[in-house]
Amino acid sequence: MDPGVKFTVLSLFPEIVDAYSASSIMAKAVARGAVTYRSVNIRDFATDKHHKCDDAPYGGGAGMLMLGEPLGRALEAVGAVPKDAVAQASAETSADVQRARVVYLSPAGRIFDQALAREFSRERELILICGRYEGIDQRIIDAWVDDEVSIGDYVLSSGEVAALAVIDATYRLVDGVITAESLDEESFSDGLLEYPQYTRPEVYGTLRVPEVLLSGHHEQIRQWRLCKRVEKTLRLRPDLIRRGLEARTFNAETIALINEFESPSD
Ligand code: ADE
Repeated sequence: MDPGVKFTVLSLFPEIVDAYSASSIMAKAVARGAVTYRSVNIRDFATDKHHKCDDAPYGGGAGMLMLGEPLGRALEAVGAVPKDAVAQASAETSADVQRARVVYLSPAGRIFDQALAREFSRERELILICGRYEGIDQRIIDAWVDDEVSIGDYVLSSGEVAALAVIDATYRLVDGVITAESLDEESFSDGLLEYPQYTRPEVYGTLRVPEVLLSGHHEQIRQWRLCKRVEKTLRLRPDLIRRGLEARTFNAETIALINEFESPSD
């Protein structure tokens, strides 16, 4: 079986991320060997007697930064390769050096989205660095980090929460974890949000399941769902519609619906 992605998490509180990987579909994916998971406690790489992992920033300012040295030793221990080692090795031997992709979770990073999750799901190994306090020493980013990634425009107190979001969105895209059919129909799969869904009972309070869904008419259901997806995406995420139109990723049926909603004929 394809070994899927190996997730290596470097953290001061690995138990937060460990708990998730041991539950639910992720645990099943790990048990089946579709993905691999390991974590390392950065504090184990602090050499002083108090296992200190943070200090005040040079130049002053609020809060503490994570020290570079324990983090650098943790990266070495998990087999990460510094960025310049690749350039050097390939200049010397012209051989490709296999490097894990090193990701630092930070509010100052590029925004994580489904496209990046898809890209990550094709990697051999992702090493995720979880920041705490005010962040990490810039020299670690310069020497080791390939991607600085944010999960949204807000500041979390814990990079572990962000790492969980990245791991979750990524592992489910690895071949064989979730059926292709489920992935095809979900939000972002083709630049639109997902359609509304209903289950039993048919009447909840005064609210009925839309009649078309009870009709058994597959083509009408498909058209209704596409129409709802377009309407909802226009209302909640017009940026996705703009992007899809610019990138020409929508088919003729979707474009016709967008035009219809934007300039109704009557
Ligand atoms: N650490 C703190 N805030 C974060 C965010 N928004 N994304 C990723 N990592 C973070």
